[in-house]
Amino acid sequence: MMQLTGVETQVLADTEAVAAETARLILDAAADAIAARGAFRLVLAGGSTPLAAYRLLAQAQADWAHWHLYHGDERCLPPDSPERNSRAADDVWLAKVPVPREQVHPIPAEQGAPAASAAYEPVVAGAVPFDLVLLGMGEDGHTASLFPGHEILPGPLVMPVHDAPKPPPDRVSLTPSALCRSRRMLVLVTGAGKQAAVARWAAGEGLPVARVAVGGNALVLLDRAATPAMPPEPDLG
Ligand code: 6PG
Repeated sequence: MMQLTGVETQVLADTEAVAAETARLILDAAADAIAARGAFRLVLAGGSTPLAAYRLLAQAQADWAHWHLYHGDERCLPPDSPERNSRAADDVWLAKVPVPREQVHPIPAEQGAPAASAAYEPVVAGAVPFDLVLLGMGEDGHTASLFPGHEILPGPLVMPVHDAPKPPPDRVSLTPSALCRSRRMLVLVTGAGKQAAVARWAAGEGLPVARVAVGGNALVLLDRAATPAMPPEPDLG
């Protein structure tokens, strides 16, 4: 059985099963948070992996008036660019449910990475601890816009990112300090392209996703395609 040190893992059949379980866990966390604190603060993951779950949430019944939504990272592109994480979430989900617009907090990445980071820092400072942080993982083991080999600032909650190996090069990311200030964290990993990075993670490599997931008490949802075959247990006879 594959183990990722310090985190809980669940291997599901395919991307549809991961999307369904993700949507179920988000709706459960929302109901618990609203019952306990009157509000649900959720950080959205970017990239393509969470979109299937967002589409399911667009069909769901929920107490949307008490949802507060933030982004874990954003790409420095115009707000209406289809490559923007905020636009993707709007198109498949948020434009279809009555979450009050003033409770949806896109990162103003069109301002450029330094200015947008400075503008988003107080937004995050006023929201933590989050109730749930959603994250994806890249084929190099990055998460949000925290890339291997990049300096990750320990202090601030939000940081500008330049020279990102995944386009576009300029981005804004929540730091581990912010992402780990959450009651729960869900990391979504699907597709054969992610298998090598999962194997490196399982082998104990300090990839950005590994460091954030441990700090965030994460549950990692994988599909079978992303799960490396583990070597058979040695027969100790
Ligand atoms: C981004 C994301 C990034 C993403 C991974 C996985 O803006 O690109 O926030 O961290 O989660 O790159 O991307 P996919 O889900 O598309 O494989």
